[in-house]
Amino acid sequence: MPGDPLRAQWAAETFLEDAICVNRVRGMLGYTGTWRGNRVTIHGSGMGMPSLSIYANELIRDFGAKTLIRIGSCGAMQERIQLRDVIIAMTSTTLSTPSSGIFRELNFAPCADYGLLEAAVSAAKAKGITHHVGGIYSSDVFYDERPDLNEQMVRHGILGVEMEAAELYILAARHGVRALGVMTVSDHLLREEALPSEDREKSFGEMVEIALHAAFP
Ligand code: HPA
Repeated sequence: MPGDPLRAQWAAETFLEDAICVNRVRGMLGYTGTWRGNRVTIHGSGMGMPSLSIYANELIRDFGAKTLIRIGSCGAMQERIQLRDVIIAMTSTTLSTPSSGIFRELNFAPCADYGLLEAAVSAAKAKGITHHVGGIYSSDVFYDERPDLNEQMVRHGILGVEMEAAELYILAARHGVRALGVMTVSDHLLREEALPSEDREKSFGEMVEIALHAAFP
């Protein structure tokens, strides 16, 4: 599940065999095909947890998806991390998620599926892709008016910020399926750097490969 539906189209056309478009409602493109004989759907999530929640719920509940992997971009929050590095999210911290209402006073800890995480790390190592494994921050805002929150994330070793993984992990836990988030670093919050757009496609392709190898090791 990439955030951008056009990335779903690009990934399906580039990596899948016999891919057919299975959804285009509201422009949220989804494609089903095969990769090395395994049936795969690549479906956009849109940006932010409320949007992802719609598509992940439907993929799980109506179409029986058992393994969901987010492939997206994130902003790095540690000096040692460089643009284009891959972050594999073990856990995700949030201020709130679409599921906060049901947890009430609980702080549920959204956590990746360990088998998928281990397989993704192996795939990244095999391909020689620089990667970091640890906690990320799933934020509700891109244009953040609370820089002090980012400072606390940095201070507590959070690797990067994006806007979808936590709710994916929560939905997977609720429905007894597997989930993982693999993110390419597209910008750096501490150094105000950003990846030129021409570099994004190559980095995105590496992430799709990591995700496919993680799903079918
Ligand atoms: N913030 C939130 N989401 C993101 C960022 C960011 O800096 N970069 C890529 N996704």
